[in-house]
Amino acid sequence: IRTGRCVVAVDGPSGSGKSTVSRRLAAGIDARYLDTGAMYRAVTWAVLRSGVDPADAEAVAKVAAEVELRIGTDPQGYGVTVDGVAVDAPIRGPEVTAAVSAVAAVPAVRALLVARQREMITNAGRIVVEGRDIGSVVAPDAELKVYLTASETARAQRRSAQDAADVAATAADLARRDRLDSTRKADPLQQTADAVVLDTTELGIDEVVARLRELLTERGVA
Ligand code: DC
Repeated sequence: IRTGRCVVAVDGPSGSGKSTVSRRLAAGIDARYLDTGAMYRAVTWAVLRSGVDPADAEAVAKVAAEVELRIGTDPQGYGVTVDGVAVDAPIRGPEVTAAVSAVAAVPAVRALLVARQREMITNAGRIVVEGRDIGSVVAPDAELKVYLTASETARAQRRSAQDAADVAATAADLARRDRLDSTRKADPLQQTADAVVLDTTELGIDEVVARLRELLTERGVA
């Protein structure tokens, strides 16, 4: 069992392969895994449940402060609950996906979730964390920062395979979310200067994971 601190930050747009890569890497190096997107999705689910308008930042912040959000860190399968209700399935649904960028743009929501994420990272010690602002805001001191990209077509194809929706509609929705996630004022998606950039359009998942493991070995952390 490996014990040293090892935080891996994985950022990138939707469909870049973050989740698959992060989980496999975590399982391979005996680390925990945190899906921060699932946390923004869970808060969004709570906002929709309470009938609050996702564009009403003040009301959204209030919901976020009042709900009890729990998320596991097992790379083989984690659960997400909101006030004790399992929300793993509904947070992947179209209603949450359509509203999540608005909720994730609210600074008070981000402050709350970033604090939780930092706490979970400290407690875990060895953890792969995926999101949009992990290398830039949540864990700027990560042992390894990765920025995954892929062509728009490849990303849309992966998402529609996941959602069984049509590729053109998915591409339009991805472009809309990427624009919102990259241009918002509070902690937008960004590539830090010290991140290793990998394009997954041509690289297979296994190759990406192998490359990251090599980098961790070179740095003496896994
Ligand atoms: O990775 P995902 O599609 O599950 O993320 C859902 C949304 O949450 C996405 O539109 C961007 C936002 N997000 C964020 O703003 N910051 C993060 N660290 C993770 C996700």
